[in-house]
Amino acid sequence: MAHLKLTGVQKRYGAVEVLHDINLDIPSGEFVVFVGPSGCGKSTLLRTIAGLEEISGGTFEIDGRVVNEETPKQRCVAMVFQSYALYPHMSVYDNMAFGLSLEKGQSKSEIDRRVREAAKMLQIESYLDRLPKALSGGQRQRVAIGRAITRDPKVFLFDEPLSNLDAALRVQTRIEIARLHERMPNTTMIYVTHDQVEAMTLADRIVVLNKGHVEQVGTPLELYNDPDNLFVARFIGSPAMNILPLAADGSGGWVLKGGRLRVPISSPAGAGGEFHLGVRPEDLSLAGTGEDALIEGQVALTEDLGEVTLVYVDVGLTDEPVVAKLPGSVTLQRGANLRLTASADKLRFFGADGRAIRPPLASTRFAAAG
Ligand SMILES: Nc1ncnc2c1ncn2[C@@H]1O[C@H](COP(=O)(O)OP(=O)(O)OP(=O)(O)O)[C@@H](O)[C@H]1O
Ligand SMILES: [Mg+2]
Repeated sequence: MAHLKLTGVQKRYGAVEVLHDINLDIPSGEFVVFVGPSGCGKSTLLRTIAGLEEISGGTFEIDGRVVNEETPKQRCVAMVFQSYALYPHMSVYDNMAFGLSLEKGQSKSEIDRRVREAAKMLQIESYLDRLPKALSGGQRQRVAIGRAITRDPKVFLFDEPLSNLDAALRVQTRIEIARLHERMPNTTMIYVTHDQVEAMTLADRIVVLNKGHVEQVGTPLELYNDPDNLFVARFIGSPAMNILPLAADGSGGWVLKGGRLRVPISSPAGAGGEFHLGVRPEDLSLAGTGEDALIEGQVALTEDLGEVTLVYVDVGLTDEPVVAKLPGSVTLQRGANLRLTASADKLRFFGADGRAIRPPLASTRFAAAG
Protein backbone atom coordinates (compact mmCIF):
# COMPACT_ATOMS: atom_id res chain seq x y z
CA MET A 1 0.00 0.00 0.00
CA ALA A 2 1.35 3.42 -0.86
CA HIS A 3 -0.62 6.63 -0.98
CA LEU A 4 1.48 9.34 -2.65
CA LYS A 5 1.03 13.02 -2.02
CA LEU A 6 2.99 15.81 -3.66
CA THR A 7 2.47 19.29 -2.29
CA GLY A 8 3.95 22.34 -4.00
CA VAL A 9 6.80 20.27 -5.41
CA GLN A 10 9.44 22.26 -7.28
CA LYS A 11 12.60 21.17 -9.00
CA ARG A 12 15.39 23.50 -10.00
CA TYR A 13 18.59 22.79 -11.88
CA GLY A 14 20.73 25.75 -10.89
CA ALA A 15 18.67 28.83 -11.64
CA VAL A 16 16.28 26.99 -13.98
CA GLU A 17 13.06 25.76 -12.44
CA VAL A 18 11.76 22.77 -14.42
CA LEU A 19 8.89 21.71 -12.11
CA HIS A 20 6.60 24.39 -10.71
CA ASP A 21 4.25 23.83 -7.80
CA ILE A 22 3.20 20.25 -8.55
CA ASN A 23 0.26 19.07 -6.44
CA LEU A 24 -0.84 15.48 -6.84
CA ASP A 25 -2.72 13.03 -4.68
CA ILE A 26 -2.38 9.43 -5.83
CA PRO A 27 -4.33 6.83 -3.85
CA SER A 28 -2.81 3.46 -3.09
CA GLY A 29 -3.01 1.00 -5.99
CA GLU A 30 -3.80 3.60 -8.61
CA PHE A 31 -2.27 3.41 -12.09
CA VAL A 32 -1.35 6.96 -13.07
CA VAL A 33 0.05 7.93 -16.47
CA PHE A 34 2.09 11.10 -17.05
CA VAL A 35 1.86 12.55 -20.54
CA GLY A 36 3.10 15.81 -22.04
CA PRO A 37 5.37 17.20 -24.74
CA SER A 38 9.05 16.38 -24.81
CA GLY A 39 10.95 18.35 -22.18
CA CYS A 40 7.87 19.16 -20.06
CA GLY A 41 9.30 17.42 -16.99
CA LYS A 42 7.79 13.94 -16.98
CA SER A 43 11.05 12.09 -16.32
CA THR A 44 12.17 14.70 -13.82
CA LEU A 45 8.93 14.32 -11.87
CA LEU A 46 9.24 10.54 -11.95
CA ARG A 47 12.86 10.66 -10.80
CA THR A 48 11.87 13.05 -8.04
CA ILE A 49 9.22 10.59 -6.85
CA ALA A 50 11.78 7.77 -7.09
CA GLY A 51 14.25 9.69 -4.96
CA LEU A 52 16.85 9.81 -7.75
CA GLU A 53 16.53 13.61 -7.82
CA GLU A 54 16.31 15.88 -4.82
CA ILE A 55 13.22 18.09 -4.47
CA SER A 56 14.04 21.83 -4.47
CA GLY A 57 10.81 22.85 -2.75
CA GLY A 58 7.57 21.38 -1.39
CA THR A 59 6.97 18.00 0.16
CA PHE A 60 6.53 14.46 -1.03
CA GLU A 61 4.71 12.08 1.28
CA ILE A 62 4.19 8.32 1.14
CA ASP A 63 1.39 7.16 3.43
CA GLY A 64 1.52 10.43 5.32
CA ARG A 65 5.27 10.29 5.95
CA VAL A 66 7.43 13.01 4.39
CA VAL A 67 10.12 11.19 2.40
CA ASN A 68 11.93 14.17 0.82
CA GLU A 69 15.24 13.01 2.27
CA GLU A 70 14.81 9.25 1.81
CA THR A 71 16.66 7.08 -0.71
CA PRO A 72 14.76 5.10 -3.38
CA LYS A 73 15.23 1.95 -1.30
CA GLN A 74 13.85 3.53 1.86
CA ARG A 75 10.86 4.69 -0.18
CA CYS A 76 10.26 1.11 -1.45
CA VAL A 77 10.20 2.42 -4.99
CA ALA A 78 11.35 0.54 -8.10
CA MET A 79 11.86 2.06 -11.50
CA VAL A 80 11.94 0.60 -15.01
CA PHE A 81 13.63 2.69 -17.69
CA GLN A 82 13.35 2.93 -21.45
CA SER A 83 16.73 1.25 -21.87
CA TYR A 84 16.54 -2.04 -20.03
CA ALA A 85 19.96 -1.61 -18.43
CA LEU A 86 20.46 -5.35 -17.93
CA TYR A 87 23.91 -6.72 -17.09
CA PRO A 88 25.00 -8.31 -20.40
CA HIS A 89 27.30 -10.93 -18.84
CA MET A 90 24.69 -12.19 -16.37
CA SER A 91 21.89 -14.66 -17.05
CA VAL A 92 18.29 -13.56 -16.82
CA TYR A 93 18.09 -15.28 -13.45
CA ASP A 94 21.15 -13.46 -12.11
CA ASN A 95 19.95 -10.14 -13.48
CA MET A 96 16.73 -10.58 -11.56
CA ALA A 97 18.41 -11.87 -8.38
CA PHE A 98 21.32 -9.43 -8.31
CA GLY A 99 19.62 -6.48 -6.57
CA LEU A 100 18.11 -8.77 -3.94
CA SER A 101 21.37 -10.56 -3.28
CA LEU A 102 22.95 -7.22 -2.31
CA GLU A 103 20.29 -6.70 0.34
CA LYS A 104 21.16 -7.90 3.80
CA GLY A 105 19.26 -10.79 5.28
CA GLN A 106 17.93 -12.24 2.05
CA SER A 107 18.33 -16.02 2.08
CA LYS A 108 19.15 -17.83 -1.15
CA SER A 109 15.87 -19.71 -1.03
CA GLU A 110 13.87 -16.50 -0.53
CA ILE A 111 15.66 -14.88 -3.49
CA ASP A 112 14.99 -17.96 -5.58
CA ARG A 113 11.31 -17.93 -4.65
CA ARG A 114 10.92 -14.26 -5.59
CA VAL A 115 12.79 -14.58 -8.89
CA ARG A 116 10.71 -17.59 -9.94
CA GLU A 117 7.46 -15.94 -8.90
CA ALA A 118 8.26 -12.81 -10.94
CA ALA A 119 9.42 -14.90 -13.90
CA LYS A 120 6.17 -16.83 -13.80
CA MET A 121 4.11 -13.64 -13.66
CA LEU A 122 5.90 -12.31 -16.74
CA GLN A 123 6.13 -15.64 -18.58
CA ILE A 124 9.90 -15.60 -18.82
CA GLU A 125 10.49 -18.80 -16.81
CA SER A 126 11.94 -20.62 -19.81
CA TYR A 127 14.56 -17.92 -20.42
CA LEU A 128 16.07 -17.80 -16.93
CA ASP A 129 19.37 -19.36 -18.05
CA ARG A 130 19.81 -17.19 -21.12
CA LEU A 131 21.95 -14.11 -21.48
CA PRO A 132 20.11 -10.86 -22.33
CA LYS A 133 21.60 -10.81 -25.84
CA ALA A 134 19.68 -14.01 -26.63
CA LEU A 135 16.34 -12.30 -25.92
CA SER A 136 14.08 -10.08 -28.00
CA GLY A 137 13.56 -6.46 -26.98
CA GLY A 138 10.19 -7.26 -25.44
CA GLN A 139 11.63 -10.18 -23.46
CA ARG A 140 14.49 -7.99 -22.20
CA GLN A 141 12.03 -5.36 -21.05
CA ARG A 142 10.09 -8.05 -19.21
CA VAL A 143 13.30 -9.10 -17.45
CA ALA A 144 13.83 -5.46 -16.45
CA ILE A 145 10.28 -5.36 -15.09
CA GLY A 146 10.84 -8.71 -13.38
CA ARG A 147 13.96 -7.39 -11.70
CA ALA A 148 11.87 -4.55 -10.27
CA ILE A 149 9.07 -6.92 -9.15
CA THR A 150 11.43 -9.13 -7.15
CA ARG A 151 12.14 -6.16 -4.91
CA ASP A 152 8.44 -6.12 -4.01
CA PRO A 153 8.09 -2.35 -4.34
CA LYS A 154 5.21 -0.33 -2.94
CA VAL A 155 5.54 2.05 -5.86
CA PHE A 156 6.38 1.00 -9.39
CA LEU A 157 7.65 3.69 -11.76
CA PHE A 158 7.97 3.23 -15.52
CA ASP A 159 9.68 5.76 -17.80
CA GLU A 160 8.60 5.02 -21.38
CA PRO A 161 9.33 1.31 -20.95
CA LEU A 162 7.99 0.28 -24.34
CA SER A 163 9.37 2.97 -26.61
CA ASN A 164 12.24 0.81 -27.88
CA LEU A 165 9.89 -1.96 -28.99
CA ASP A 166 8.27 -2.45 -32.38
CA ALA A 167 4.52 -1.94 -32.77
CA ALA A 168 3.44 -5.56 -32.22
CA LEU A 169 5.68 -6.06 -29.19
CA ARG A 170 4.49 -2.78 -27.71
CA VAL A 171 0.90 -4.00 -27.79
CA GLN A 172 1.83 -7.37 -26.30
CA THR A 173 3.95 -5.85 -23.53
CA ARG A 174 1.31 -3.19 -22.82
CA ILE A 175 -1.23 -5.95 -22.18
CA GLU A 176 1.39 -7.65 -19.98
CA ILE A 177 1.72 -4.46 -17.91
CA ALA A 178 -2.06 -4.13 -17.57
CA ARG A 179 -2.15 -7.73 -16.27
CA LEU A 180 0.72 -7.00 -13.93
CA HIS A 181 -1.27 -4.18 -12.39
CA GLU A 182 -4.23 -6.51 -11.90
CA ARG A 183 -1.99 -9.01 -10.13
CA MET A 184 -0.45 -6.32 -7.93
CA PRO A 185 -3.57 -4.32 -7.05
CA ASN A 186 -2.01 -2.64 -4.02
CA THR A 187 1.08 -1.42 -5.85
CA THR A 188 0.83 2.21 -6.93
CA MET A 189 2.09 2.58 -10.48
CA ILE A 190 3.20 5.66 -12.36
CA TYR A 191 3.89 5.32 -16.04
CA VAL A 192 5.36 7.88 -18.43
CA THR A 193 4.52 7.55 -22.11
CA HIS A 194 4.26 9.45 -25.38
CA ASP A 195 1.78 6.89 -26.65
CA GLN A 196 -1.86 7.94 -26.60
CA VAL A 197 -3.16 4.38 -26.69
CA GLU A 198 -0.98 3.34 -23.76
CA ALA A 199 -2.17 6.34 -21.78
CA MET A 200 -5.84 5.82 -22.57
CA THR A 201 -5.85 2.06 -21.97
CA LEU A 202 -3.55 1.68 -18.96
CA ALA A 203 -4.42 4.70 -16.84
CA ASP A 204 -6.89 4.95 -14.02
CA ARG A 205 -6.03 8.65 -14.23
CA ILE A 206 -3.85 10.67 -16.59
CA VAL A 207 -1.77 13.66 -15.53
CA VAL A 208 -1.16 16.08 -18.42
CA LEU A 209 2.03 18.06 -17.90
CA ASN A 210 3.13 21.12 -19.83
CA LYS A 211 6.26 23.21 -19.21
CA GLY A 212 6.71 21.86 -15.71
CA HIS A 213 3.17 22.31 -14.46
CA VAL A 214 0.04 20.19 -14.33
CA GLU A 215 -2.59 21.13 -16.93
CA GLN A 216 -5.24 18.62 -15.88
CA VAL A 217 -5.67 15.38 -13.96
CA GLY A 218 -8.54 13.08 -14.80
CA THR A 219 -9.68 9.71 -16.05
CA PRO A 220 -8.87 9.08 -19.72
CA LEU A 221 -12.49 9.71 -20.71
CA GLU A 222 -12.75 12.89 -18.64
CA LEU A 223 -9.74 14.31 -20.46
CA TYR A 224 -11.04 13.15 -23.83
CA ASN A 225 -14.62 14.31 -23.37
CA ASP A 226 -14.20 17.32 -21.17
CA PRO A 227 -10.76 18.90 -21.44
CA ASP A 228 -10.21 21.83 -19.07
CA ASN A 229 -8.33 23.90 -21.61
CA LEU A 230 -7.08 24.14 -25.17
CA PHE A 231 -3.76 22.54 -24.33
CA VAL A 232 -5.38 19.33 -23.07
CA ALA A 233 -7.96 19.43 -25.88
CA ARG A 234 -5.17 19.46 -28.45
CA PHE A 235 -2.91 17.04 -26.61
CA ILE A 236 -5.33 14.16 -25.91
CA GLY A 237 -6.72 12.42 -28.99
CA SER A 238 -5.21 11.62 -32.35
CA PRO A 239 -5.54 13.28 -34.80
CA ALA A 240 -5.94 16.29 -32.54
CA MET A 241 -9.20 18.12 -31.90
CA ASN A 242 -9.95 20.79 -34.53
CA ILE A 243 -9.94 24.26 -33.02
CA LEU A 244 -11.76 27.04 -34.89
CA PRO A 245 -12.14 30.71 -33.99
CA LEU A 246 -15.60 31.97 -33.06
CA ALA A 247 -16.83 35.55 -33.06
CA ALA A 248 -19.87 37.16 -31.46
CA ASP A 249 -22.64 37.76 -33.99
CA GLY A 250 -23.94 40.84 -32.19
CA SER A 251 -27.19 39.26 -31.10
CA GLY A 252 -26.00 37.06 -28.30
CA GLY A 253 -24.90 34.17 -30.46
CA TRP A 254 -21.65 33.06 -32.04
CA VAL A 255 -20.58 32.50 -35.58
CA LEU A 256 -17.52 30.78 -36.95
CA LYS A 257 -15.21 33.66 -37.70
CA GLY A 258 -15.21 34.31 -41.41
CA GLY A 259 -17.85 31.67 -41.84
CA ARG A 260 -21.56 31.96 -42.07
CA LEU A 261 -22.66 29.39 -39.57
CA ARG A 262 -24.28 30.13 -36.27
CA VAL A 263 -23.32 28.05 -33.29
CA PRO A 264 -26.08 27.59 -30.73
CA ILE A 265 -24.48 28.82 -27.53
CA SER A 266 -25.72 31.72 -25.54
CA SER A 267 -23.04 34.23 -24.55
CA PRO A 268 -21.51 33.33 -21.24
CA ALA A 269 -22.01 36.14 -18.76
CA GLY A 270 -19.65 39.01 -19.44
CA ALA A 271 -18.05 37.26 -22.37
CA GLY A 272 -16.50 39.34 -25.07
CA GLY A 273 -13.75 39.03 -27.60
CA GLU A 274 -12.73 35.79 -29.09
CA PHE A 275 -13.76 32.23 -28.46
CA HIS A 276 -12.71 28.90 -29.85
CA LEU A 277 -14.83 26.01 -30.98
CA GLY A 278 -13.36 22.53 -30.61
CA VAL A 279 -14.62 19.49 -32.47
CA ARG A 280 -12.91 16.12 -32.69
CA PRO A 281 -12.19 14.60 -36.14
CA GLU A 282 -14.21 11.50 -35.21
CA ASP A 283 -17.26 13.62 -34.33
CA LEU A 284 -17.49 15.17 -37.79
CA SER A 285 -19.64 13.52 -40.45
CA LEU A 286 -20.81 14.39 -43.94
CA ALA A 287 -23.83 16.71 -43.91
CA GLY A 288 -26.78 15.48 -45.91
CA THR A 289 -28.31 17.57 -48.68
CA GLY A 290 -30.53 20.19 -47.16
CA GLU A 291 -28.90 19.71 -43.76
CA ASP A 292 -27.06 22.70 -42.28
CA ALA A 293 -23.32 22.20 -42.22
CA LEU A 294 -21.07 23.22 -39.37
CA ILE A 295 -18.03 23.44 -41.57
CA GLU A 296 -17.75 23.84 -45.31
CA GLY A 297 -14.56 23.71 -47.35
CA GLN A 298 -12.50 22.02 -50.03
CA VAL A 299 -10.84 18.65 -49.76
CA ALA A 300 -7.07 19.19 -49.51
CA LEU A 301 -5.99 15.59 -48.92
CA THR A 302 -7.39 12.22 -47.96
CA GLU A 303 -5.63 9.40 -46.14
CA ASP A 304 -7.40 6.08 -46.44
CA LEU A 305 -6.37 3.87 -43.52
CA GLY A 306 -8.84 1.14 -44.46
CA GLU A 307 -10.75 1.22 -41.21
CA VAL A 308 -11.21 5.00 -41.43
CA THR A 309 -10.41 7.78 -43.88
CA LEU A 310 -8.84 11.01 -42.69
CA VAL A 311 -10.07 13.93 -44.75
CA TYR A 312 -8.20 17.25 -44.56
CA VAL A 313 -10.44 20.16 -45.48
CA ASP A 314 -9.39 23.72 -46.23
CA VAL A 315 -11.97 25.97 -44.63
CA GLY A 316 -10.17 29.29 -44.90
CA LEU A 317 -10.63 29.98 -41.18
CA THR A 318 -7.28 28.81 -39.89
CA ASP A 319 -3.92 27.93 -41.42
CA GLU A 320 -4.44 24.33 -40.46
CA PRO A 321 -6.94 22.26 -42.39
CA VAL A 322 -9.88 20.80 -40.50
CA VAL A 323 -9.51 17.03 -40.12
CA ALA A 324 -12.46 14.70 -40.30
CA LYS A 325 -12.21 10.99 -39.48
CA LEU A 326 -14.86 9.22 -41.53
CA PRO A 327 -15.61 5.51 -41.13
CA GLY A 328 -14.46 3.09 -43.84
CA SER A 329 -12.88 3.92 -47.19
CA VAL A 330 -14.15 7.22 -48.54
CA THR A 331 -13.18 8.40 -52.02
CA LEU A 332 -13.18 12.17 -52.48
CA GLN A 333 -11.72 14.32 -55.23
CA ARG A 334 -9.10 16.81 -54.20
CA GLY A 335 -10.66 20.29 -54.33
CA ALA A 336 -14.20 18.94 -54.06
CA ASN A 337 -16.57 20.94 -51.88
CA LEU A 338 -17.30 19.18 -48.62
CA ARG A 339 -19.93 19.96 -46.00
CA LEU A 340 -19.37 18.57 -42.52
CA THR A 341 -21.65 18.46 -39.55
CA ALA A 342 -21.41 17.34 -35.93
CA SER A 343 -23.85 16.67 -33.16
CA ALA A 344 -24.11 19.83 -31.04
CA ASP A 345 -23.36 17.92 -27.83
CA LYS A 346 -19.93 17.07 -29.25
CA LEU A 347 -18.90 20.73 -29.63
CA ARG A 348 -16.51 22.17 -27.06
CA PHE A 349 -15.87 25.85 -26.35
CA PHE A 350 -12.83 27.65 -25.03
CA GLY A 351 -12.39 31.27 -24.01
CA ALA A 352 -9.70 33.63 -25.25
CA ASP A 353 -7.59 32.56 -22.23
CA GLY A 354 -7.79 28.95 -23.45
CA ARG A 355 -10.00 27.78 -20.55
CA ALA A 356 -13.00 25.60 -21.32
CA ILE A 357 -16.34 27.36 -21.11
CA ARG A 358 -19.27 25.12 -20.54
CA PRO A 359 -22.29 27.19 -21.54
CA PRO A 360 -25.70 25.66 -21.94
CA LEU A 361 -26.42 24.93 -25.56
CA ALA A 362 -29.34 26.94 -26.85
CA SER A 363 -30.48 24.12 -29.09
CA THR A 364 -29.24 20.78 -30.25
CA ARG A 365 -28.65 21.97 -33.80
CA PHE A 366 -26.76 24.80 -35.38
CA ALA A 367 -28.21 26.83 -38.18
CA ALA A 368 -27.04 29.02 -41.00
CA ALA A 369 -26.47 32.52 -39.61
CA GLY A 370 -28.65 34.85 -41.26
N1 LIG B 1 20.30 17.31 -15.04
C1 LIG B 1 19.69 18.34 -15.64
N2 LIG B 1 20.23 19.58 -15.63
C2 LIG B 1 19.60 20.63 -16.20
N3 LIG B 1 18.42 20.55 -16.81
C3 LIG B 1 17.82 19.35 -16.87
C4 LIG B 1 18.43 18.19 -16.29
N4 LIG B 1 17.60 17.14 -16.50
C5 LIG B 1 16.54 17.63 -17.19
N5 LIG B 1 16.68 18.96 -17.40
C6 LIG B 1 15.69 19.84 -18.09
O1 LIG B 1 14.46 19.70 -17.45
C7 LIG B 1 13.40 19.73 -18.39
C8 LIG B 1 12.52 18.52 -18.23
O2 LIG B 1 13.25 17.37 -18.65
P1 LIG B 1 12.63 15.92 -18.60
O3 LIG B 1 13.68 14.95 -18.96
O4 LIG B 1 11.95 15.73 -17.29
O5 LIG B 1 11.52 16.01 -19.76
P2 LIG B 1 10.55 14.87 -20.31
O6 LIG B 1 9.16 15.39 -20.19
O7 LIG B 1 10.85 13.58 -19.67
O8 LIG B 1 10.95 14.84 -21.85
P3 LIG B 1 10.98 13.58 -22.88
O9 LIG B 1 9.56 13.36 -23.27
O10 LIG B 1 11.79 14.12 -24.01
O11 LIG B 1 11.62 12.43 -22.19
C9 LIG B 1 14.04 19.84 -19.76
O12 LIG B 1 13.98 21.18 -20.17
C10 LIG B 1 15.46 19.40 -19.52
O13 LIG B 1 16.35 20.04 -20.40
MG1 LIG C 1 11.60 11.74 -20.36
